[in-house]
Amino acid sequence: MRTPIIAGNWKMHKTVAEAVELATGVRNAVTDVVGVDVVLCPPFTALAALKDVLAGSNVGLGAQNMHFAEQGAFTGEVSPLMLKELCQYVILGHSERRQFFCETDEGVNKKIKVALEHGLRPIVCVGENLAQNEAGETTAFVGGQVKAAFDGLSAEEAAVVIVAYEPIWAIGTGKTADPATANTIIAQSIRGTLAEMYGDDVAQKVRVQYGGSVKPGNVDAFMAQPDIDGALVGGASLSVENFLPLVKAGQ
Ligand code: PGA
Repeated sequence: MRTPIIAGNWKMHKTVAEAVELATGVRNAVTDVVGVDVVLCPPFTALAALKDVLAGSNVGLGAQNMHFAEQGAFTGEVSPLMLKELCQYVILGHSERRQFFCETDEGVNKKIKVALEHGLRPIVCVGENLAQNEAGETTAFVGGQVKAAFDGLSAEEAAVVIVAYEPIWAIGTGKTADPATANTIIAQSIRGTLAEMYGDDVAQKVRVQYGGSVKPGNVDAFMAQPDIDGALVGGASLSVENFLPLVKAGQ
């Protein structure tokens, strides 16, 4: 049985003061929530403050990106050593990182390995763009991304990685994938690829989230799908009012 995971990706939103207010609100609203992992991923600047806000609570903390080196001359970057004293999760290979900051499959794979070495749990994003979707390339493309992301990982390492299937055309657009179609892509391209690489046991252990315009009004349809174990949420994670129903839907 896979524990659902509902994660908020705040992207480049919230000052430290605003982040503390939102995280405090989420923490206080979910005290009685059990059976679902709740994770907040604020900007780097708010991680230290939120570590204190969330200490001893049932809400986990994650970063939105990470460099693969432990330290060095990489101006503007944040390393696994820096993150591991602040948080437990790290989003890697988000489509916005791939699209706007030239992240490659190879780089994402390197980061996943380093995150795991440091005890950080990666949330690895995959997903096709609109042109690929319309050309019927989704299954092959997403399968290829999964294969590249997990390249060289042991079965034990693979089993703790979380994958987020996020069709790029559904992110922040208000459009969502059809829940049954998303489930099929996850079953075939994500679990199917993992089954080829590691066998069925690992493929069934890996938690896979859906992401892309998840809102209180559509979350139940995604959570009802057998291969969808939660959601990676952008816009609707920016208020307690919108995020709380998503957490409850994960229960
Ligand atoms: P969205 O973002 O919920 O605003 O579509 C999802 C994401 O990018 O993780």
